[in-house]
Amino acid sequence: MKFFIDTANLAQIKEANDLGILDGVTTNPSLMAKEGVKGNDAVMQHYKTICEMVDGDISAEVISTDFENIIAEGKKLAAIHKNIVVKVPMIKDGIKAIKWFSDNGIRTNCTLVFSAGQAILAAKAGATYMSPFIGRIDDSGWDGMELIHQIRQIYSIQGFKTEILAASIRNPNHIIKCAEAGADVCTCPLDSILGLLKHPLTDIGLAKFLEDAQKFA
Ligand code: G3P
Repeated sequence: MKFFIDTANLAQIKEANDLGILDGVTTNPSLMAKEGVKGNDAVMQHYKTICEMVDGDISAEVISTDFENIIAEGKKLAAIHKNIVVKVPMIKDGIKAIKWFSDNGIRTNCTLVFSAGQAILAAKAGATYMSPFIGRIDDSGWDGMELIHQIRQIYSIQGFKTEILAASIRNPNHIIKCAEAGADVCTCPLDSILGLLKHPLTDIGLAKFLEDAQKFA
């Protein structure tokens, strides 16, 4: 399973990248706004900076919702760097655009996926990645992980090549469960990635080893 970080914060991207286990970055308009990135030029520059920091796929999201403008915007985003993946919302014109991008050699990430039906449409349109939002499904009282299992089963039976990119991750256990369910990629906040490191017995064991090491230092 590939690890992406789900942020537009450059310090967090650097921290995750320095671990040596990062395969890519996903962003969205809310994450860009959170970093105070304002204006088209600044947004384009921010994506470029991320691409120069991380050698992996970088999702950049369109904010247009009609076919012509999604295509125009996606082409501009794709021209920033060879690693840019154009993130397109799961709407009717989005599906049309994903098919167009796929036919024209531009890679896509179909975002805001909340059902197996939407996942099938994204795969049929030729999306490179498809992002089910696990945490938001859990937040609404449904089971996000159940959806990952269902999509994995459908994609495997049907031989769909679209990669399942589990998004809206809230904690380290989501990452473990996504790996178990056969997600191809998990995009996570830095805290959830670092949370995988933690176990009290590791801390207790290390403290004891270091204490005992003093006896022969
Ligand atoms: O990038 C899309 C997704 O990961 C958003 O997560 O936490 O806003 O539900 P969240």
